[in-house]
Amino acid sequence: MDLSSRKVEIFGIILRLSLVSAVSFLGVKWLMKHLDPTAKNKQNAKEIAEKRLKRIAKNGKSVAIDKLNEYELMIAAQLIHPDDISITWKDIAGLDDVITELREEIILPIMRRDLFEHSILSLPPKGILLYGPPGCGKTLIAKATAKEAGMNFINLDVSCLTDKWYGESQKLAAALFTLADKIQPCIIFIDEIDSFLRDRSTNDHEATAMMKAQFMSWWDGLITDPKSSIIIMGATNRPRDLDRAILRRMPAAFNIGLPRTPQREQVLKLILSKEPKEENIDFHQLAVQTDGFSCSDLMEMCRSAAVYRVKDFLNLEKTKKGDEVFYDTLRPIAMGDLLYAAEKVRSAKMLCGSFHLQTSLDVE
Ligand SMILES: Nc1ncnc2c1ncn2[C@@H]1O[C@H](COP(=O)(O)OP(=O)(O)OP(=O)(O)O)[C@@H](O)[C@H]1O
Ligand SMILES: [Mg+2]
Repeated sequence: MDLSSRKVEIFGIILRLSLVSAVSFLGVKWLMKHLDPTAKNKQNAKEIAEKRLKRIAKNGKSVAIDKLNEYELMIAAQLIHPDDISITWKDIAGLDDVITELREEIILPIMRRDLFEHSILSLPPKGILLYGPPGCGKTLIAKATAKEAGMNFINLDVSCLTDKWYGESQKLAAALFTLADKIQPCIIFIDEIDSFLRDRSTNDHEATAMMKAQFMSWWDGLITDPKSSIIIMGATNRPRDLDRAILRRMPAAFNIGLPRTPQREQVLKLILSKEPKEENIDFHQLAVQTDGFSCSDLMEMCRSAAVYRVKDFLNLEKTKKGDEVFYDTLRPIAMGDLLYAAEKVRSAKMLCGSFHLQTSLDVE
């Protein structure tokens, strides 16, 4: 074989190799794009994040969207501007003591930094824990705090940190803190914090353990920085399942327990304040009859009572005029509707065991 035919042969081999490499590269890229289950979510998250960040920018907190990495953008999709939160203190009944404490210890130092920054001791805590049985107002309180303090609110979807491919969770955990730093003052709210930061055990997956460790080290950075206005607020039904290292980072803990009789009376008055009701509603009696109810049970009870009058009205019309139904007017909610609904809610709770569970929950 002469030299020129060898050159042609080598050139042919190189060409084929290059072609095979290019096809493999494009193939793998295509597969990665189509097999990555998070790709679509990432695209959606990016669009939502851009809208939310623009909303913040309108109120003078400009964040360069193109400087955020893809993880920060995913977290930014969970961002809520305080003006977009509809919950205020007026929507929360029976928790006046907790609200007063939150206002004095957390909101005031944030709104009047000038009065508090001279001493590190008077700075607000960087971690707040709200604990207590389900449906008693923990989420409401977190939202109302962000609203009143005018703080951006990241309602962290924990599954976004835990369901990711290897290594992604750590990047997302880091992004949570770097983004919060850019948009502060900010509350990071972690609902069901026990599911995410429960007691570490040797059975933890390596990636989970590393993510938790990283989360805590970022949190430490927050605690030691007196200038930062980022607060982590966690809510849980099971404070005892929480890692002790996490409890230490949440020095302000508020027990949002089951409402007592006077609190239930206030909650019922609030729920029914805008509803058409008879004059003779005895709120005290209702509060006494609903011992063991959570606020969301009271809500469900009032909802049922409001529906009875509609059912009543439709049935009455049917008996009088066959199948024809006339929507002239509905009668107001009566005491009887509420008492009947209370019994219904109580027996439903007994049946599914939640009545017993709630009173023996893992709370002080
Ligand atoms: N203190 C309250 N005053 C008025 N309504 C309340 C109060 N607490 C709870 N509710 C009603 O119950 C619903 C559930 O409240 P919320 O989501 O704050 O409970 P939670 O304590 O966060 O429960 P979970 O532990 O299940 O997350 C609210 O949407 C509201 O309708
Ligand atoms: Mg909640």
